[in-house]
Amino acid sequence: PDRYAVIGNPIAHSKSPAIHAAFAEQTGQDIRYGRLLGDRDDFAGDVRRFFAEGGLGLNVTVPFKEEAWALADERSPRAEIAGAVNTLIRLDATRIRGDNTDGVGLVRDLGINHGFDFRARSVLLLGAGGASRGVLLPLLESGLARLRIANRTAAKAEDLAALGAAFGPVEGCGLDQLEGERFDLIINATSAGLSDAVPAIPETCLAPGGWTYDMLYGDVPTAFCRWGAAHQAARALDGLGMLVEQAAESFHLWRGIRPKTATVIKGLRRPG
Ligand code: ATR
Repeated sequence: PDRYAVIGNPIAHSKSPAIHAAFAEQTGQDIRYGRLLGDRDDFAGDVRRFFAEGGLGLNVTVPFKEEAWALADERSPRAEIAGAVNTLIRLDATRIRGDNTDGVGLVRDLGINHGFDFRARSVLLLGAGGASRGVLLPLLESGLARLRIANRTAAKAEDLAALGAAFGPVEGCGLDQLEGERFDLIINATSAGLSDAVPAIPETCLAPGGWTYDMLYGDVPTAFCRWGAAHQAARALDGLGMLVEQAAESFHLWRGIRPKTATVIKGLRRPG
């Protein structure tokens, strides 16, 4: 079978092997998809070894996405803007292409799986770290009317907005500058949820009928999903669908076949 893997550190809890195994079974592709614990001091060496031994593609996760960007011999435009690569593709014996499927995963989960219509909508993206930057270009290409990036450290949001400005209507500000604003969709790309916290945003910044989306996911509702539910979000979604959609896009890049995601998402949602 053709060999693929996900590389990260830590990696034991990655759901990617199960997701890709399900895609392979569904599409009848003969692949083997493993898990690699990357060496924090020699990520590039691990990658070169994997490809030298015949591997055809890698997914890259925390903390190596920026290093993967740097070592790719060529990059897609969306990866270029993201400054991070989550998918490596073997081109030939010496060249590796880097792509980033996170943003398209987010936009497809919202737009296709859940039917969110981005057109004419105002969207608030919380956070200005790697997670936000990773989804910037696909979000701006979703058809949305305006994107606001808000961050605890305002300057980082302004910098990220400046990076996106050539591709769509985007502005940056501090979390403390959202008073009186209303958004149809609020996406949480901060790491606050890792400590079960939510970014400090006004109680009123979700428009009536608006949606919330947490790029994080968990077995129990995330802090930001709970915030959405408590603030009458029409839908308060977590990032499990995005995880499966970004995997599907990687699978498509590698195999030329687009797997169906609905049953895979449902399977992961089941407890146990
Ligand atoms: P990631 O790659 O997950 O985006 P990161 O680059 O470290 O990680 O960025 C973390 C993001 O979460 C930042 O935007 C950070 O805000 P600052 O830039 O001001 O540090 C944001 N963040 C983390 N904890 C937060 C909290 N408790 N409230 C609001 N924002 C938070």
